[in-house]
Amino acid sequence: MEFSIKSTGPEKLRTDSLLVGIYEGRKLTELARSVDEASGKAITLALKSGDMEGKSGSTLILRQLSGIAAPRVVLVGLGKSEEFSLRSLRNAFRAAIKSLPAGVESLATDFPGLAIKKCDIQSKAAALAEIAWESIYQVNAIKEKKAEPKALQQITLLVNKADAEAAETGVKQGEGIGQGVALAKDLGNLPPNICTPTYLGKQAEKLAKDYGFKVEVLEEAEIEKLKMGSFLGVTRGSDEPPRFIVLQHLKGKKTQKPVVLVGKGITFDTGGISLKPGADMDEMKYDMCGAASVLGVFKTIGELDLPLNVVGLIPTCENMPSGRATKPGDVLTSMSGLTIEVLNTDAEGRLILCDALTYAERFDPSAVIDIATLTGACVIALGHHPSGLFANNDALAKKLLDAGEKAQDRAWQMPLWDEYQGQLDSNFADMGNIGGRAGGSITAACFLSRFAKKYDWAHLDIAGTAWKSGKEKGATGRPVPLLVTYLLQQAADKV
Ligand code: BES
Ligand code: MN
Ligand code: ZN
Repeated sequence: MEFSIKSTGPEKLRTDSLLVGIYEGRKLTELARSVDEASGKAITLALKSGDMEGKSGSTLILRQLSGIAAPRVVLVGLGKSEEFSLRSLRNAFRAAIKSLPAGVESLATDFPGLAIKKCDIQSKAAALAEIAWESIYQVNAIKEKKAEPKALQQITLLVNKADAEAAETGVKQGEGIGQGVALAKDLGNLPPNICTPTYLGKQAEKLAKDYGFKVEVLEEAEIEKLKMGSFLGVTRGSDEPPRFIVLQHLKGKKTQKPVVLVGKGITFDTGGISLKPGADMDEMKYDMCGAASVLGVFKTIGELDLPLNVVGLIPTCENMPSGRATKPGDVLTSMSGLTIEVLNTDAEGRLILCDALTYAERFDPSAVIDIATLTGACVIALGHHPSGLFANNDALAKKLLDAGEKAQDRAWQMPLWDEYQGQLDSNFADMGNIGGRAGGSITAACFLSRFAKKYDWAHLDIAGTAWKSGKEKGATGRPVPLLVTYLLQQAADKV
């Protein structure tokens, strides 16, 4: 994908298609007006004939307008001008690209200049670049005949000269996010017989080589040495060896405390001895999407060379039943020393994360954020739109909520009140690993909070947002945009 920023008029522009916004009520944007003038009122005529109202998401392709070099002018409905938002901009751009014939290789648009309250050129350009990457994404399906790559590869953003630099910065960020999202999607979509813990370890090593990160991929013997008894209790039933991945991007000041990201990396969750029902079990290959989002974020911060210290921790294994597998009633001793009665082997995410949270202490972090497809209960509570957010520090929660809003990759805060902690009581260990049906995503977060007492911590439950089911089954790459936006803000605050 190639981006260029230009300040020239639309008439002579060499591009396959010129995207022109129309607000609802047939209201012309600036670019629409200049194309209209140059083409002898072609747009006005099309609108008058009732072919297009400007409703959000609608499109109309006009061909071979006189006075316009581009063979195609695509009218793109923007919705009501008073209500135009970053969300509507994103939707309009998505719809416009979708409406293009498959062979279109280039487009140009003035969308970064469309006025949105409290939104600068940089944010708009970033959103457009991110969506351009999203639009060319293709699942790497294992089929006899490989899919043709999408043709779109050249995007021109038309902006005022004074805005060119901000647009350039935005494009760079959006491209970085787009690439991180694509990596997270690729890893999530891979079948679980390929995307094993060993494979994730190799991917981390490859990223480290490409971008100069520090990397360690710990094997079972080293995990045992660390006394991660809870993590080891989950991997026990599987023939695939586990990995504990440590990635470090150290581009901040030496004295700056790092942000630690922890991703749940269950490459397949059968439930273990507490076996899951068969329907849709294939989707449990997505149980490593937290890990994929951490690797996606590292791809982005590598691309952007973010001046910040960031550590990524990924405990990764399979959750399988077998003669060796952990059983309900087994008691595990976590790295922290706290003991856990495993009442349901399907509540395994928290068991691998708790040891990673203890390991995180050694980095003296400014904040620790874990990302996990942790509970079905979170999907019941919030559906598929926001990720669930839990935090032991409200300032950190607010920063993540704001980042989600800005990136249009939103989260919604859930309570982490002491009242829920009692649900984890056990007669046989320091705690049980489940808290009953009531507030299932909250008691899961409460479990994690017990291992995150030494630092500011947030937990993102992405069970409802990391992938889509049904006809459009596939990973979403969320919450890479939220996390990167948070880190960009952290880097900006540090300067
Ligand atoms: N990976 C699942 C959570 C999940 C289930 C995410 C379905 C998305 C869709 C997790 O390991 C799990 O199995 N959680 C259990 C917890 C329960 C046993 C307390 C759940 O949510 O049912
Ligand atoms: Mn499970
Ligand atoms: Zn799981």
